[in-house]
Amino acid sequence: MSWNVKPSATTRIHRRSEPYVTEEMRTRLREEILPRYAVPQGALLPILHDIQHRYRHIPHQAMEEVAELLGITSADVLDTVSFYDEFKMEATGRCVIGVCQSIACEVCGHEAILDHLRGKLDLEVGETSDDGEFTLLAMECLGSCDTAPVALFDETLHEGLTIDAIDRLIEKVRQGGGAGEHPHG
Ligand code: FES
Repeated sequence: MSWNVKPSATTRIHRRSEPYVTEEMRTRLREEILPRYAVPQGALLPILHDIQHRYRHIPHQAMEEVAELLGITSADVLDTVSFYDEFKMEATGRCVIGVCQSIACEVCGHEAILDHLRGKLDLEVGETSDDGEFTLLAMECLGSCDTAPVALFDETLHEGLTIDAIDRLIEKVRQGGGAGEHPHG
């Protein structure tokens, strides 16, 4: 019988001299976030959101910085980061595409959407393109079953997707316009 083990004890932490938690984040933490919570640990999710948003992942060094700021252990921060899907430990692309794969979207053709994206971006689900532009993910129900098939482009939900709509969105991202507006609009 074999065991799969996490390489936590041997993972090398890449460090940089400049802190990941910027002065601006520290000020927001001190003035806006911490006053809302009875204990500093309550501020953990908001500060992690800030870091994820800025760096598109939570570097290990940033987890240590957050732990020190909130007076908790790095293991507590790591537990939280690894629990929530929205926090990534590896850098994601500048545009994260999450195609819903749950039942309504499955029935309405999510596989064709995913296949098209796989071919167009030359990516498998879970991968990031070499140029750092796109990450392709398959997600569980995004709460818009009546407009299936749907996908998130970063934080914007696109509904009733077609291959043409996907092509327009990808083109828009490649031209630097983001994909925040509905492709039919
Ligand atoms: S199944 Fe796709 S949004 Fe619900």
